[in-house]
Amino acid sequence: SSTRLWGGRFGGGPSPAMAALSKSTDVDWRLAPYDLAGSRAHARVLHRAGLLADDELEQMVRALTELSAEVAAGTFAPVESDEDVHEALERGLTEKLGTLGGKLRAGRSRNDQVATDLRLYLRHNVRALVGELASLEYALLGLAERYLDVPAPGMTHLQHAQPVLVAHQLLAHAHAFARDVDRLLDWDRRAAVSPLGSGALAGSSLPLDPDAVAAELGFDRAAENSIDAVSDRDFAAEFCFCAAMVGVHLSRLGEEVVLWTSTEFAWARLDDAWATGSSIMPQKKNPDIAELARGKSGRFVGNLTGLLTMLKGLPLAYDRDLQEDKEPVFDSLEQLLLLLPAVTGMVATLTLRPEVLEAAAPQGFALATDVAEWLVRNGVPFRSAHEIAGSMVAVCEEAGLELDELDDEQLAGIDERLTPEVRSVLSVRGALAARSTRGGTAPERVAGQLSALREVAAAH
Ligand code: ARG
Repeated sequence: SSTRLWGGRFGGGPSPAMAALSKSTDVDWRLAPYDLAGSRAHARVLHRAGLLADDELEQMVRALTELSAEVAAGTFAPVESDEDVHEALERGLTEKLGTLGGKLRAGRSRNDQVATDLRLYLRHNVRALVGELASLEYALLGLAERYLDVPAPGMTHLQHAQPVLVAHQLLAHAHAFARDVDRLLDWDRRAAVSPLGSGALAGSSLPLDPDAVAAELGFDRAAENSIDAVSDRDFAAEFCFCAAMVGVHLSRLGEEVVLWTSTEFAWARLDDAWATGSSIMPQKKNPDIAELARGKSGRFVGNLTGLLTMLKGLPLAYDRDLQEDKEPVFDSLEQLLLLLPAVTGMVATLTLRPEVLEAAAPQGFALATDVAEWLVRNGVPFRSAHEIAGSMVAVCEEAGLELDELDDEQLAGIDERLTPEVRSVLSVRGALAARSTRGGTAPERVAGQLSALREVAAAH
């Protein structure tokens, strides 16, 4: 007879096109270990409820353990006629146990099963993701520490704005990834709810113990509402958002690396092992990892919007549309687990060029704000101070000079309040040291940030 889970009321088998559309084993086989873990917990609950005899439980647990090993070894796999992971595994169980295998389905539906499996899968893999993010944080902190006192141009609009420490900029990226980890850990609090026991949608008339199953599977608690439990995919959407945010952060870092390693910037060099060449141009050394980080952000955002769009307008409780929740989730997770080690390696082995960075730091009249603020400290209203410093820039641009190259006479010619003492603020080091408010780029602030972030990363 058929291994289908729903043959009873049907005359014949499904049409080939129906079966092909319905089939999800290519995607959902990833859930097999979690489905088996759920089955072991469910078997024990059926036993405690008096629905499985002692020897039946023993046989059942033994068969599930064997099946787990076979799944892990790849010796048990879905066949053409299996609709989904749940059907394939029930076939595996009945092949071992005969009719006893069919007892496990009591009190359980694929609806609560699949929701449970996906939560287990994600909670497990998010831990790996957090580990990868922590490694990237460490790589960024290491790079910041190696170049801790190196000034660099700080940009807005990709134009020279004010000098910063290059470490300050690297730590800005580290803060973003630290928030991503925080978000994922917070996500887990809401994901740690077990749907098992909800059945198809209404709960079960059998004396199950959802709390015991939840505890055995490592969840914090069982769901309070069976309808919500089988239809809620917030946890999947929220995960896809967390993943998309990581992806966007990786993309922004990637873009900076692309710029920094260009001949025009020449701020950084990639290690050979973390760059690629060209099949025709022998001189090329391309930042492919950074570009893939930038490029893959599109699919992370797409996975999130695709999932949210699928969920929108679904009536409660379960609808088959929900089967489409898996690909975006798996893709976001798997792509991040592929991308993160590469980005971490690229960052960890990046060489910065302190001499280039330091020489570029004051360029583009990046100390003009310091002139304006010096005037303010001397009692000039900022509005006028801004005008005066702006005139200084205009004179320099016209004369082809830097701000600190104007002589006393030229300074006085711009405005009498530009006394020679203004030169005291026309140094990059001075400008950096002066920005000592919390969060500022002064060396002692950046050093403080670095040690605080080290503690954050160690806790991740
Ligand atoms: N494979 C389905 C999914 O991933 C679970 C099966 C539920 N199917 C059903 N007809 N109730 O959502």
